[in-house]
Amino acid sequence: MFRSLPVAVVAVGMLSLVEQTTASLYNETSLNHTCQLQDPILSCSAQAQPQLTDSCCTETYGGLVLSTQYWDTYTGLEAQGQLLPRNAWTLHGLWPDYCDGSYTQYCDLSRQYDPAPSPNTTTGTASGTPVEPYTGPNIGTFLEPFGKFDLLAFMHKYWVAQNQASPDFWGHEFSKHATCYSTFDLPCYGPQYVEHEDVVDFFETAIAWYRTVPTYSWLAAAGIVPSNTTTYTLGDIQDTLTDKFGAVPYLACVGPQFNATAAGAGSGDAGYTVLNEVWYYHHVSGRPQERHGVPVAANATGGSLGNCASSAGAISYYLRSNGSEV
Ligand SMILES: *[C@@H]1O[C@H](CO)[C@@H](O)[C@H](O)[C@H]1NC(C)=O
Ligand SMILES: *[C@@H]1O[C@H](CO)[C@@H](O)[C@H](O)[C@H]1NC(C)=O
Ligand SMILES: *[C@@H]1O[C@H](CO)[C@@H](O)[C@H](O)[C@H]1NC(C)=O
Ligand SMILES: *[C@@H]1O[C@H](CO)[C@@H](O)[C@H](O)[C@H]1NC(C)=O
Ligand SMILES: *[C@@H]1O[C@H](CO)[C@@H](O)[C@H](O)[C@H]1NC(C)=O
Ligand SMILES: *[C@@H]1O[C@H](CO)[C@@H](O)[C@H](O)[C@H]1NC(C)=O
Ligand SMILES: *[C@@H]1O[C@H](CO)[C@@H](O)[C@H](O)[C@H]1NC(C)=O
Repeated sequence: MFRSLPVAVVAVGMLSLVEQTTASLYNETSLNHTCQLQDPILSCSAQAQPQLTDSCCTETYGGLVLSTQYWDTYTGLEAQGQLLPRNAWTLHGLWPDYCDGSYTQYCDLSRQYDPAPSPNTTTGTASGTPVEPYTGPNIGTFLEPFGKFDLLAFMHKYWVAQNQASPDFWGHEFSKHATCYSTFDLPCYGPQYVEHEDVVDFFETAIAWYRTVPTYSWLAAAGIVPSNTTTYTLGDIQDTLTDKFGAVPYLACVGPQFNATAAGAGSGDAGYTVLNEVWYYHHVSGRPQERHGVPVAANATGGSLGNCASSAGAISYYLRSNGSEV
């Protein structure tokens, strides 16, 4: 599921082309980012401004943090052993949206590790700065010198791509999204920064948030389990996840629109019918790395709660394909 940039964000992106090619969002020095000396500030609050707080300790760039997951039924790379984890949705990413719900992307092209940039310019239009495909060793190999083989194994199991090798997808998530956080910016790591420690830090953080939102278990506890015969009602899925998470998440569906199915023929419901994605929104207290957040409703900034059909029994939550799960 790819989001397209709202017009307002494209304008922001065009104004900030210079910054986007530098290694730092705010040109901070690499000194004195000892966050333990500071009281944590909630992202998107009045104090969460780069002039008022240390941007390495408070997220001041992408303060609306989305922990996102997929429910795919196959990977397309089963023959190579890329399988989906039984009883779990897969990690998609940890995205830093602006506080108004818009977002930017590929903020630091010196950290471009995405072999298939999407979009292929910083703004998604021909006038944006080109994002060149990365051709080096995949980003998963960056974890090896750090001895993070356990992290790598977890990522292979739970951070699984479709129709793409998972490490290439991790490179996409890092370069498109993680480079737009103030708190993962390179000066934050101090003068003794070790190459790629920001990558390790981001992957650990994305997983830490992922582990707080066990979508599969939450739905299963309410009797909402994958089925190729039973269908579900969007409101029941939303209510269950809202109850567990503390705020209503965004749900994305694919497949046919309800009014294009036999069950929905003639209805006015043009929502999509195959459950595929969930986005949990947060404001974050202190660094996202510390995993302290406040759930935020997905429509708090005026956006929608998703594109799924809302008619009774319109939603399919399919079983994985035989042989696609491990
Ligand atoms: C950072 O430095 C660059 C190059 O000097 C400058 O163009 C840009 O405006 C600066 N950004 C900020 C946020 O100060
Ligand atoms: C870092 O902190 C020290 C001690 O407070 C101070 O003397 C120095 O000016 C600071 N340097 C920068 C670049 O902020
Ligand atoms: C981006 O992709 C479009 C569509 O495939 C292509 O026409 C364009 O040349 C590409 N731009 C760059 C900078 O690679
Ligand atoms: C479903 O509804 C949408 C929006 O009203 C419409 O564009 C589309 O043509 C409809 N599809 C069918 C099959 O009726
Ligand atoms: C968000 O959606 C809920 C449920 O549809 C609705 O009650 C609420 O008013 C919406 N909030 C905003 C800010 O649109
Ligand atoms: C369930 O249905 C989906 C969607 O049609 C299909 O991809 C999957 O293989 C099916 N799973 C099983 C176990 O039949
Ligand atoms: C998947 O396996 C189940 C159980 O063996 C079988 O009932 C079902 O028809 C299979 N589905 C597909 C799409 O092959």
